[in-house]
Amino acid sequence: MEGIHLLVKKRIQETLHSYICVANAFVWFNVMPKEIEISECRTEDVGDPIKELWLGLAHEMFEIEHFTIPSEANANRWVEFVREGLVSGRNFLSVAKSGREPVGYAFASVSRDFPLEVAEFVGSINDVYVLPEFRGKGIGKRLVIKCIEKMKAKGVTAARLAVLTENTTAVKLYEKLGFRIYRYGMLK
Ligand SMILES: CC(C)(COP(=O)(O)OP(=O)(O)OC[C@H]1O[C@@H](n2cnc3c(N)ncnc32)[C@H](O)[C@@H]1OP(=O)(O)O)[C@@H](O)C(=O)NCCC(=O)NCCS
Repeated sequence: MEGIHLLVKKRIQETLHSYICVANAFVWFNVMPKEIEISECRTEDVGDPIKELWLGLAHEMFEIEHFTIPSEANANRWVEFVREGLVSGRNFLSVAKSGREPVGYAFASVSRDFPLEVAEFVGSINDVYVLPEFRGKGIGKRLVIKCIEKMKAKGVTAARLAVLTENTTAVKLYEKLGFRIYRYGMLK
């Protein structure tokens, strides 16, 4: 009788243990940071989540530059502009995703429109944005690297970008990637 009692007690303990293990694995799975994937955005993927990211960037830039208005109308115009650029192959957009959720993007353009003969084929990095809660994890760096790779594949020999002097975080990011100041922009 004592033996059966002990056996039942052991089985209950084993069952409880396996439930606790499953529950722990479930909790771990839910809190585990998701892998961030950087991919190229296709025209049909430029929708509301990307627009929201642009609005996030526009709001932050408006605080320091007071120029492009972070309005819904402008966000819609930007989406149209990006779609057209992707279709023409002049622009490209790299997106960082956590699961299915876009958490950052970089937008770049290449163009041979300049009418004069030049020594370099220049590509421009126009926007880089990462949601505040995802910053400091190397996502911005990966997004810019992805743009540079894409530019190189299109024959670009020099990458250019403009950044506000007050935006010291972004300046540090670009310096880290080997960008250097080559001219000053002036405003009166
Ligand atoms: C600028 C921005 C894109 C950086 O994205 P991020 O994912 O946080 O950057 P990363 O984690 O890849 O950091 C890359 C480098 O930037 C620098 N950096 C990033 N965050 C920094 C901070 N808070 N302070 C100082 N340097 C910082 C570091 O040199 C870092 O390299 P390290 O980690 O090897 O030292 C992000 O802060 C952002 O979206 N800011 C608002 C929008 C913006 O300013 N865009 C640029 C417009 S030109």
